[in-house]
Amino acid sequence: MWGGRFAEGPSAIMREINASIPFDKALWREDISGSLAHVAMLAKQGIVSEGDADAIIRGLNQIAEEYARDGVPENWDLEDIHMTVESRLTEIVGPAAGRLHTARSRNDQVATDFRMWVREATRRAIGGVDTVLAALVGRADEHAGSIMPGFTHLQTAQPVTLGHHLLAYFEMLMRDRSRFADALARMDECPLGSAALAGTGFDLDREMTAHALGFARPTRNSLDAVSDRDFALDYLMAASQCSLHLSRLAEEFIIWASQPFGFVKLPDTLSTGSSIMPQKRNPDAAELVRGHAGRVIGCATSLMITMKGLPLAYSKDMQDDKPPVFEAAGLLDLSLAAMAGMVADSGFDTARMRKAAEAGHATATDLADWLVRQADIPFREAHHITGAAVKLADQKGVALDGLTIADLKAIDERIDERVFDALSVDASVAARASYGGTAPVRVREQVEDARRRLEKI
Ligand code: ARG
Repeated sequence: MWGGRFAEGPSAIMREINASIPFDKALWREDISGSLAHVAMLAKQGIVSEGDADAIIRGLNQIAEEYARDGVPENWDLEDIHMTVESRLTEIVGPAAGRLHTARSRNDQVATDFRMWVREATRRAIGGVDTVLAALVGRADEHAGSIMPGFTHLQTAQPVTLGHHLLAYFEMLMRDRSRFADALARMDECPLGSAALAGTGFDLDREMTAHALGFARPTRNSLDAVSDRDFALDYLMAASQCSLHLSRLAEEFIIWASQPFGFVKLPDTLSTGSSIMPQKRNPDAAELVRGHAGRVIGCATSLMITMKGLPLAYSKDMQDDKPPVFEAAGLLDLSLAAMAGMVADSGFDTARMRKAAEAGHATATDLADWLVRQADIPFREAHHITGAAVKLADQKGVALDGLTIADLKAIDERIDERVFDALSVDASVAARASYGGTAPVRVREQVEDARRRLEKI
């Protein structure tokens, strides 16, 4: 395709290091769509004849059928998907095939193909996030009043509701969704027609190809269009953030599924057994979601480092843009699907969660708050009195509400029987009815609000 000025062909090493066909064959659909749009535009502009354009269009459609049926052949001599398609086109339609590449370079071609691929991956990610969001809202609704311990430092802190906990992830994933949507809006410009770097002397209709390929408009600057990969980085960074959220959720399921916690039974369909220990039920899917997040972040790092030192315009380093994006997309799609299933189908042991909430003096803050409200004691002093009560409860081996009124009065005179109303986990969560708080009434409102937000997207 470019041998005119060379006396010798490339060495075996050159051919191998140069070949991107092993991975960029994944772009064959986009490549053929791009060529179809380009040749239709060339014909309309009178740059190629209708006859040649028809032959090229027929040839391209035949290639699409062949690739769909038999896969894409991998010949390193043809370097990449663009030359692979063009060489097959030449076999099918003869010399007219050579007119397809008029006013085009592989530089604007690959930038267009890859953008279309990333656009599809971004849409798929949004769809995947939506499935997890729907699962989270459904389970949050079911468990708006299920009490569990809330943790800080993984130490029992205050009772919360499971619904509230799940809706925390709903918020995180809604933001992830908006990051993907932002990325989609920004990548909505078509590089095709930028040619190698400087534009072209042919009278193109770039609006026509942009619209044919589903873009809002053509890119404004030909150098930018062939040189930048920030659309791919936008995707990878949104994917990294989303994977990070999924990884934290997966980690919680792993902890909750462990025997000492026993808060959740993961679905059979997303667990594995051990080949030696018959009792085992391992959270492999969750662990892999946690592991995949690291790889996705690695992919984002990889592409940032590829791009950071490149002068304008195209350099061959940029061929390395695709593997990390393809890899990250595969990992993210799987992670989203796994977490959607885990959220939707896990069995929560609400009795056990409640017991755990009752066990860790999780209502100590409620006692301190009661002292502030009922006895007008400054919070710092109330904190100190409550500390003494916790200590005594530990010595007696009881929960805070297992202390007698005499015990409590011995610690501070001002405490009376009404305090027991504040010390149950139910009273504790019901009291936290501030906007955004864990009280079941608030969680139910948040579920309704979440449903409305999902309807609007
Ligand atoms: N396979 C190349 C890539 O993926 C296509 C662009 C080649 N351009 C060039 N000037 N050699 O980046």
